[in-house]
Amino acid sequence: MNQFRGQHILSVNQFDRDAIRQIFQVADRMAPYAHRKKRTRVLDGAILGNLFFEASTRTRVSFGTAFNLLGGEVRETAGMATSALSKGESLYDTARVLSSYSDIVAMRHPDAGSVAEFAQGSRVPVINGGDGANEHPTQALLDLYTISKELQFHGDNIEGMHIAMVGDLKHGRTVHSLSKLLSLYKNIRFTLISPKELAMPDSIIDAIDKAGHRYTITEQIEGLVDADICYQTRIQEERFPSQAEANKYRGKFRLNQDIYTRHFQSKTVIMHPLPRDSRADANELDNDLNLNPNLAIFRQVDNGVLIRMALFALTLGVEDIVEKYDCEVQWYSNKQNI
Ligand code: CP
Repeated sequence: MNQFRGQHILSVNQFDRDAIRQIFQVADRMAPYAHRKKRTRVLDGAILGNLFFEASTRTRVSFGTAFNLLGGEVRETAGMATSALSKGESLYDTARVLSSYSDIVAMRHPDAGSVAEFAQGSRVPVINGGDGANEHPTQALLDLYTISKELQFHGDNIEGMHIAMVGDLKHGRTVHSLSKLLSLYKNIRFTLISPKELAMPDSIIDAIDKAGHRYTITEQIEGLVDADICYQTRIQEERFPSQAEANKYRGKFRLNQDIYTRHFQSKTVIMHPLPRDSRADANELDNDLNLNPNLAIFRQVDNGVLIRMALFALTLGVEDIVEKYDCEVQWYSNKQNI
């Protein structure tokens, strides 16, 4: 049964293990389309309202790409200044209006709770593409999907794994959502590495604790020799009261090939939700890791398209008929060799 048909996707709290399994099974079936081996027109005529009121590259474009790959059309609103929100229009009114133009909406907004507020006025399903420091549920799903595939490659699995989360754990919505999803599994060890001012919120620690997982809170990146996953994050400067405040923490936890070789096992998977801050004073994930086979950051990006395709197929109730609308790819594509 498809529990997502016609539903909003606002928080990872909506998911249980069965729901995640269902999303991942549909995502697996999306790979031939993402790799341009075939096309589908299953969403021919459907319109995605892609509303991004905060900066984004991956989430915005991959939502659009995922919808296009299913045969649908995308209408973009990017930036607060070009929206009537800047004239004082409420999220409710904006939702009433924009949902009349679309069959489904994907939305990002800088305020926690804003996407849920928008959804109350929407006449169509709304998918949260990130609301302030609160949640980023589709990122958490693609991260979990990536973790599962990467560990499978090494002959391991999620239960029993050791994950290190590094950086700005206070403002990083991706680590909040991912931690909550991981709490659905058993016997995970978390090492939470951040300056104490940027520590993981107590509510997330409580969820980890209540689920019976082990956790360590530290300011040191050493001692991770048995980490299966190192999930690095950016200092979320847009959530700080001033640039000067953010600058205090910039570059504090850098990962490069030398640190990786000295402190991690050779199979530790390196993840980052991206964007990584590659400016010299930050450089949290050095370019010298680019050829490290365990750098999974661009596989995360690829998996994001599969997950978002799966969510569109499920919320619009076409998950069982995607293949019925297949057609051939006419152009040459390197992606077909993937
Ligand atoms: N991971 C992520 O949310 O990236 P963007 O900010 O580019 O969408």
